[in-house]
Amino acid sequence: MSESSNDIKRAYDKIAAIYDQRSWARFWQRNEKPTVLALIRQWAPRVTRLLDVGCGTGMYMEDCVAMCCEYHGLDISPGMIEVARTKRARLASALGRRARLCVGSVAEIPFPDLTFDVVICSKVISHYENHAALLGELVRVVRKDGLLLLSDIHARHGKEYGVFRKDGEEIVARVKNYLRDPMDDSRALSSMGCMIGAIREISLANCSWQPARIGVLGNLWERPDCPILYVIAAVKGKHGEEAQSTYSDMPS
Ligand SMILES: C[S@@+](CC[C@H](N)C(=O)[O-])C[C@H]1O[C@@H](n2cnc3c(N)ncnc32)[C@H](O)[C@@H]1O
Repeated sequence: MSESSNDIKRAYDKIAAIYDQRSWARFWQRNEKPTVLALIRQWAPRVTRLLDVGCGTGMYMEDCVAMCCEYHGLDISPGMIEVARTKRARLASALGRRARLCVGSVAEIPFPDLTFDVVICSKVISHYENHAALLGELVRVVRKDGLLLLSDIHARHGKEYGVFRKDGEEIVARVKNYLRDPMDDSRALSSMGCMIGAIREISLANCSWQPARIGVLGNLWERPDCPILYVIAAVKGKHGEEAQSTYSDMPS
């Protein structure tokens, strides 16, 4: 594990207990998650095994166990996995049994090639400079015709650092972001044999849930069309034209 992944692991361990209380966490819950789940329903209507890489506190866990037989959550931070385990314990036992959680890295996913029908990777690889290598590792574990859902902070958002504050005040941790334009990740995925099915860009102007005027959004209020987040749906083993970027079509 490189020094920077150790720093990131430590940062998330520090903030695990407060991660879900942050305004941004609600923004992802209400705006990113419905987009990702709608794309799974559209592109992978039958899912047996799903991997959530960098699953964090398990934002996707409950919805995913309801739609697949086996949900695997993998995260580098034992603290984030611990919070996800607490949430799993609150699920009905039949659902909880379908959710497996373990500590591990996107740099070396502890599963054989072609294991999963669906792989989700949400807001993880922007922490690292070498997107291509990590994308390659994600693609490796998707089965042929399986689906990779990549969501991340948009380059135009321009946040060089993620700053985590306790009660909105004291800085608890800071992590560097290496932000990308979704077209760069799409091109990389196409070159790895994936067909880009959809690219969604979510901004304040088109998101279905707008947070109260939280400070963390900073000057984004003056740039409502600026994309904050992108979501790419890529099908492995199908080559095709690159999809045009479209505004998010949130399910109601
Ligand atoms: C911004 S959080 C997103 C969590 C979750 N995907 C979500 O959308 O709520 C980023 C997560 O990626 C994890 N992470 C960072 N580097 C990782 C790596 N190399 N391998 C696996 N997980 C990693 C962090 O520990 C953290 O839980």
